[in-house]
Amino acid sequence: MSVRMRKKKNIGPRLEACSPLMVENPAELKGKWREFLKCDKLMLEIGCGKGKFTLGTALQNPDRGLIALERVSEAIVMAAEKAMAEGVTNVRYVIGDAANLAEFFAPGELDRIYINFCDPWVKKKHAKRRLVYRDFLKTYAGLLTEDGEIFFKTDNRLLFDFALEEIAVSDFIAENICYDLAASGMPNITTEYEEKFMALGTPINRVEMKKKKI
Ligand SMILES: C[S@@+](CC[C@H](N)C(=O)[O-])C[C@H]1O[C@@H](n2cnc3c(N)ncnc32)[C@H](O)[C@@H]1O
Repeated sequence: MSVRMRKKKNIGPRLEACSPLMVENPAELKGKWREFLKCDKLMLEIGCGKGKFTLGTALQNPDRGLIALERVSEAIVMAAEKAMAEGVTNVRYVIGDAANLAEFFAPGELDRIYINFCDPWVKKKHAKRRLVYRDFLKTYAGLLTEDGEIFFKTDNRLLFDFALEEIAVSDFIAENICYDLAASGMPNITTEYEEKFMALGTPINRVEMKKKKI
């Protein structure tokens, strides 16, 4: 048996051990997440990976609810294990795809969305898969409150420039655009990917997208 197979075999029991923090049927909580997490403000992180940022954000915002969405169970289990070890109660983990967000959340249910180091999908023919593509931004706009916002970070300058172009034709305006987060001195919770890029000296790009007032 390959190492990969052995790892996969182990995922079930590990996820089971994290069950207090896992939400198996997110669609059942659509429109009820705030009540479920007993919070006034609800945040979503898309593509949480191994969950360093998720844990840091949950700990820093104990009065807010945080949902971490990730489509790869091998990654999300590591994220959930981190939160279990810390005993945090304001975060939940969902195995799922951003393409299905409208099944999980009601219109206006989210206050903030985090997208950190999403896959750049470098080929032009795959542009629609980028999580900052205009169709995704339209979905996010519908799920966010009137004052809702998206915080986006990436090491990939081409993806960042693409995001700024997509924001320009979306229901958001770009604020606090930053091309070198470390140099900016802004407070920052790093992700696993971010730490790798920072170690290589790669500048990190960041933008806040604020919903336009109608
Ligand atoms: C490059 S990794 C970055 C992980 C983490 N955010 C970080 O910065 O360390 C991108 C992550 O997003 C997840 N992902 C990509 N597309 C997704 C989608 N459509 N829905 C949910 N997760 C997705 C991938 O499985 C992967 O874990």
